[in-house]
Amino acid sequence: PRVIAVIPAAGVGSRMQADRPKQYLTIAGKTILEHTLDALLTHPSIHSVVLAVSPDDIYFSNLDIKENKRVDVVHGGKERADSVLNGIMHLQHDDWALVHDAARPCVSHKDITALLSLIGDNTVTGGILATPVRDTMKRAAISEDIPHQNQLNVISHTESRTNLWHALTPQLFPAQLLREALQKGLSDGVNITDEASAVEYAGYKVGMVNGSPANIKITHPADLPLAEFYLQQQLE
Ligand code: CTP
Ligand code: MG
Repeated sequence: PRVIAVIPAAGVGSRMQADRPKQYLTIAGKTILEHTLDALLTHPSIHSVVLAVSPDDIYFSNLDIKENKRVDVVHGGKERADSVLNGIMHLQHDDWALVHDAARPCVSHKDITALLSLIGDNTVTGGILATPVRDTMKRAAISEDIPHQNQLNVISHTESRTNLWHALTPQLFPAQLLREALQKGLSDGVNITDEASAVEYAGYKVGMVNGSPANIKITHPADLPLAEFYLQQQLE
């Protein structure tokens, strides 16, 4: 089957506090969005890309991407899941959707290839890249009992780290199944923060492939030099 990458790139990047959405910030002479696109378009198993861009976007048209015949552009939506769903609508029923955040330019071909091996696996319905949690995990106490001015968080208890993973992207699912799962999750008012959460909610078994923690989602200003370092490492 065809594997089509769906890239949600319609966020505003509020936590980055930059003068523009973070996907349009430049690292080593190229925007983050272009780094991400290159990583996917140069993978030999990826047929093409569907990119979700905000209807209010004023930066995308300045890039050469719009000339690329392997990139289709759709409008993004209110939440990430809406943007992904708009992209999925562009796929054929028997395609596989490889959904990947525009804000993760450091993804490696090795990890994409490992994830794609799930296409032949009958024990799960698609899957995601993920990485085991490293730090000890704390649950904060509900702040009702703490004076309002006091910003200090208090620990309720320590969560077990056993079997706890960070969900990364790409996330890989049959296109039609993912479309139906996203529609069901959205209409049932479920909080869908990634594709897997919708597919899990729809009752399927989702695989997890151990991916590199270098595949960071650029979120805060301090992530920029880190991403630059990881991208440089890949070139060597
Ligand atoms: N995204 C999207 N449509 C939205 C919201 C987010 O396509 N309505 C995309 C972002 O562009 C990003 C990815 O989803 O590539 C992951 O989201 P996140 O890291 O949260 O990006 P932003 O929402 O832009 O950042 P923030 O939450 O800090 O505002
Ligand atoms: Mg966001």
